[in-house]
Amino acid sequence: MTLDARDVGLLRCPAKTPRPCLGALSDAGATVVCDRCGAAWPVRDGLARLYRDDLVRGNDRLLRFVYDRFAALHDPAVRWLIPVLQTEGSERAMRDVYLRRLALDALRPRSDRPLRVLEVGAGTGANIGAVRDRLPRGLDVEYWAMDLSEGMLAALRERLARDPRLAPGDGHVRLAMADAHALPYPDGAFDRVFHTGGIGGYNDPRAALAEMARVAAPGTPIVVVDEQLDPSRAHSLYHRAVFRAVTFYDRDPHCPRELVPAGSVDVIEEQASRFFYCLSFKTPG
Ligand SMILES: C[S@@+](CC[C@H](N)C(=O)[O-])C[C@H]1O[C@@H](n2cnc3c(N)ncnc32)[C@H](O)[C@@H]1O
Ligand SMILES: [Zn+2]
Repeated sequence: MTLDARDVGLLRCPAKTPRPCLGALSDAGATVVCDRCGAAWPVRDGLARLYRDDLVRGNDRLLRFVYDRFAALHDPAVRWLIPVLQTEGSERAMRDVYLRRLALDALRPRSDRPLRVLEVGAGTGANIGAVRDRLPRGLDVEYWAMDLSEGMLAALRERLARDPRLAPGDGHVRLAMADAHALPYPDGAFDRVFHTGGIGGYNDPRAALAEMARVAAPGTPIVVVDEQLDPSRAHSLYHRAVFRAVTFYDRDPHCPRELVPAGSVDVIEEQASRFFYCLSFKTPG
């Protein structure tokens, strides 16, 4: 499989030297090469690998190992296990809460460039169809998705192969294998940015939020979902014990509201379910 020419134009060099390079990339077959710093990034199976492996450390490395090997278990766990463990809700009800905050129905065509939605840590692509269903009818939108796990992206591609009409617009999901701490896209390139279920395990959630804000166009909603035991409700011993286990005994899984980039507006913290918060904010318009 070769790299899709439609993808290369927007991708940028994620090197930090020490500032982010973000140079444009040229397709050189087995690599994409940065026009600015000369870094060469491997391309395999038509997928550009836009991250420095030596910088994937600690939790990020451990989680990548887990997701690479257990990608097939991810979707059943989210669909069946989490609602059972929470003793409430459904995957669909939870996705409804955060997708509403993305305000996809408010998207309107742009005259300067295509509309673009970015999913950070897209995993197996479980959100793609739900996003497509909430877009205004007939609106042409590009779906961009990135993840650090080869196993999860392989599952995403299988999902697309099973259902080629899953993605909005031309049906092509623009994929990159990359690290959420150094997104391989230019500033202000996306009209909606979202992330579900991973940031609590990242090495540096503040940096990941800053990256999401950097690549979002002015006034863009950014939505982030991950684990937090609903602070406004009482929980049984069972719920507390299960929550500790599903968060791998993390000391303080919580909504990173305090890490939202300075200057963000319309910051809203809510619960999407007993175990998951939904944090939304906008870049200044
Ligand atoms: C729990 S899954 C969620 C997948 C998807 N967003 C969903 O809701 O179904 C978390 C995903 O985050 C990815 N991930 C973990 N660390 C990452 C990082 N530093 N950069 C990009 N993706 C990362 C994992 O590979 C995994 O696919
Ligand atoms: Zn570069």
